[in-house]
Amino acid sequence: MSSESGANTHVWPDWLPLRKDLKGQSPYGAPQLPLEVKLNTNENPFSLSPDLVAKLAAAIASSAENFNRYPDRDAIELRTELANYLNSTTGAKLEADQIWAANGSNEIIQTLFLAFAGAGVNSLGFTPSYSMHENISRSTGTNWIVGARLGDFNIDVPSALTQISKEKPKLVFITTPNNPTGTSTEISDIRKIVEATAQVGGLAIIDEAYAEFSDQPSTIELLRDYLNLVVIRTMSKAFSFAGVRVGYLAAAKEVIEALQLVRLPYHLSTPTQLLAKVALEFQGELLAEVEQLKIERNKVVGELQALGLNVVPSSANFLLFSVENEKKVWQELVDLGVLVRDVGIVGHLRVTIGTPKENDRFLVALREILRTLKGEK
Ligand SMILES: Cc1ncc(COP(=O)(O)O)c(C=O)c1O
Repeated sequence: MSSESGANTHVWPDWLPLRKDLKGQSPYGAPQLPLEVKLNTNENPFSLSPDLVAKLAAAIASSAENFNRYPDRDAIELRTELANYLNSTTGAKLEADQIWAANGSNEIIQTLFLAFAGAGVNSLGFTPSYSMHENISRSTGTNWIVGARLGDFNIDVPSALTQISKEKPKLVFITTPNNPTGTSTEISDIRKIVEATAQVGGLAIIDEAYAEFSDQPSTIELLRDYLNLVVIRTMSKAFSFAGVRVGYLAAAKEVIEALQLVRLPYHLSTPTQLLAKVALEFQGELLAEVEQLKIERNKVVGELQALGLNVVPSSANFLLFSVENEKKVWQELVDLGVLVRDVGIVGHLRVTIGTPKENDRFLVALREILRTLKGEK
């Protein structure tokens, strides 16, 4: 029940012309259980403020009569605002033609595979990491290569460089902060991997879905040094906007021109473009909540350590912690109304940082479960 993807024994009817390579697969997705405390998909726990909600509603009301028309196919205003946001929060000087936006960063990842990969092409990523990189690689017929991480979940850089020169991947993925570990990759290591990828004619894709929760500098600033660098961001996490579906990337303008060859026309609806622009106007308020979540994260780290558990150092809005009997603990948390994620790493669970109340509910439940398990030994 808790697994994210992978082998499946589902029997497909003979009349269905499903691709052979998809037959044994399961759809991606965390369990959706109607529990009170939902800390399993790295969402932002804060709902939108009444001011922001009013502005979002007004934006829809004033444009709804024009919904008979297609949206701006190139989402120019939104891309301009996204460039402004990245420029003001990093040292970059990006223009709108260096930004592409889509329905969540998952669509961004898919568009990259459609334009730059496919049958006969290698892509590479360092697992454990965000499994959609591998899933989309597979669904586009691209060959996925697993890069090496060390015991502390850091990328094994020397072996990564060797793998890149040997396998010549066209897409190399680094997620930083990484999901599900929360760990960050040093900028100096990213530079080495981007340079090695350039040597083999590939693009280095840095998935920065959780960048706003990190105190490390963003790779956005490296865009001025490397043409083959692509940085992916999302409004799902820091901007509390997972339900609207807005992801984007920053790269050289030639990369964006290439993506336009495979994107669907009018892929980003008028409401989506409008809502995202309004949320960007509220960035001060939304980023202040990110700071609150970072404080909560540090509090939860302390509490887990006080329970004698190891917590992987996290720069994101979630924590990977060690726990014996993780499948039993996951189920017992569910029984107590708390949903966390079993990400398939033996002896570990991942918990998203919630509101202070949700974090307390999680900690009380976990404390109780561990006390009982200790008593059973
Ligand atoms: C590393 C990473 N990248 C991308 C995504 C996808 O985000 P979205 O499609 O909501 O933008 C996620 C979602 O959890 C993620 O963890």
